[in-house]
Amino acid sequence: DIKGFVFDLDGVITDTSRYHAQAWGQLATKLGVDYPNLGDAVKGISRMDALEMILQKGGLENNYTATEKEALATEKNTNYVQLIQNMSAKDILPGMAAFLADLKREGYGIALASASKNAPTILAKIGLQDYFTKTVDPATLQHGKPDPEIFIKGAQLLDLMPAQCIGLEDAAAGIAGINAAGETSVGIGDPQLLHAAAINFTDTSQVTLANIQQAMNG
Ligand code: BG6
Ligand code: MG
Repeated sequence: DIKGFVFDLDGVITDTSRYHAQAWGQLATKLGVDYPNLGDAVKGISRMDALEMILQKGGLENNYTATEKEALATEKNTNYVQLIQNMSAKDILPGMAAFLADLKREGYGIALASASKNAPTILAKIGLQDYFTKTVDPATLQHGKPDPEIFIKGAQLLDLMPAQCIGLEDAAAGIAGINAAGETSVGIGDPQLLHAAAINFTDTSQVTLANIQQAMNG
């Protein structure tokens, strides 16, 4: 039986993936790297891994020292932090506040498995921090998504087995991680991009307990 839900943040609870895409796009342009689908490619990918992907795309991975790479990642984050400055409860994706309230009322465990070091800031800005007392600190991870580590740790925070958990993701890398952790994956977004998910919804307004229960029994 399902007893807990392990949430991604960016692109699931709030639409910050477009800000990540914008900030990475700015950096890629500056570096002269042409990266079609950059926005989808960086979804779920940690800050340093995303930088490495962009550098590799441009064949630039050996052109920068570790210190210079840190500076590039910091530059992207400074731009990103600027973009999220004015976020508030209005930026919660449709239906997600109600879904969280339903889960809490029904007694399900709720955990956060976001790769973002900005996650606590964003949760506070949109006023959902009280739901997420159990969040995996991405700084403690050995491996980022698509590795299952963050989702396994999310289940552990809930004192549950992975099989008792549903993971929600908008990223292909995230769905891979949920599946490898042995949780039931819910993909939110383009069903072609998220074809590996056990359950697909095209947008967050479809994410309800009733729809999930129906999909699991159907
Ligand atoms: C994920 C986003 O949630 O967090 C990625 O989908 C992002 O695009 C990653 O790169 C890391 O975020 P941050 O805020 O730590 O740079
Ligand atoms: Mg995401």
